[in-house]
Amino acid sequence: MDGHGAGIELRDLTKIFRKDWREVVAVESLTFRVEPEEFVCMLGPSGCGKTTVLRMVAGLERPTRGSVFIDQKEVNSPSPEVGMVFQEFALFPWRTVRKNIAFGLEIKKVPPEKISLLTSEYVQLVGLEGFEDAHPKELSGGMKQRVGIARALANDPRVLLMDEPFGSIDAQTRNLMQRELLRIWESARKTVLFVTHSVDEAVFLADRIVVLTARPAKVREVIDVPIPRPRDRTSPEFIGIRVKVLEELQEEFEKTGVLERQAVAKAGSG
Ligand SMILES: Nc1ncnc2c1ncn2[C@@H]1O[C@H](COP(=O)(O)OP(=O)(O)O)[C@@H](O)[C@H]1O
Ligand SMILES: [Mg+2]
Repeated sequence: MDGHGAGIELRDLTKIFRKDWREVVAVESLTFRVEPEEFVCMLGPSGCGKTTVLRMVAGLERPTRGSVFIDQKEVNSPSPEVGMVFQEFALFPWRTVRKNIAFGLEIKKVPPEKISLLTSEYVQLVGLEGFEDAHPKELSGGMKQRVGIARALANDPRVLLMDEPFGSIDAQTRNLMQRELLRIWESARKTVLFVTHSVDEAVFLADRIVVLTARPAKVREVIDVPIPRPRDRTSPEFIGIRVKVLEELQEEFEKTGVLERQAVAKAGSG
């Protein structure tokens, strides 16, 4: 594990989708930095452009304007330095846990003995000992998500991008996964950019929270979370920051509501 966290810089990042005559401005002039080994959560209303931002950081999508830099180098295409964990588990159903984690290493033609060592190390890191030979269908949602995290980490990326990875996991397991993720982040020292629409999750995880506006995604506010970990969700500091983030977000949710009502009215009249 030597791929230590790299800094990320989003500079005037803009994405306009064009389809026939229609234009959707998904992201507009988004500018912020994530320091090396920092844990930043991006929070925003559904459909505001969060996934689009992550896809541009990952080099999967070209910005219409502006750029992403990872350690001062402009991102133009996907790179092994950047790992991604999605909400859908996206595991190969026919591969065992070990073989799923090994996938990226096989592509990189890492020698089999080394793959075996590395996969064992990551199985242990995410707490899946004893399930190495299980197939995804035999695992719970939380366990599948751990395989996804282990698979991303096994490539030793310097940046980990996570797109609502715990969105479809039950609340109990979700809290457990959040603690596990922090434990992994603390030992693997990656830079994490984590997308969520849960205020509670963001305040529990992040060093800083970037609150986005309703579409197009712009930075509305950046909120520091100077609470030592492990964090107590019932502490006054925690609740104080929660309320502050909620207030910011609430106004954006309301805007989304207005936009939706306008669209419905327009559709009704047209
Ligand atoms: N490939 C695409 N083509 C056209 N429009 C897209 C595409 N991807 C996303 N969009 C649009 O961009 C906006 C932001 O989407 P997305 O980034 O997925 O939001 P979020 O992840 O915040 O829910 C939405 O209006 C969505 O319909
Ligand atoms: Mg999304």
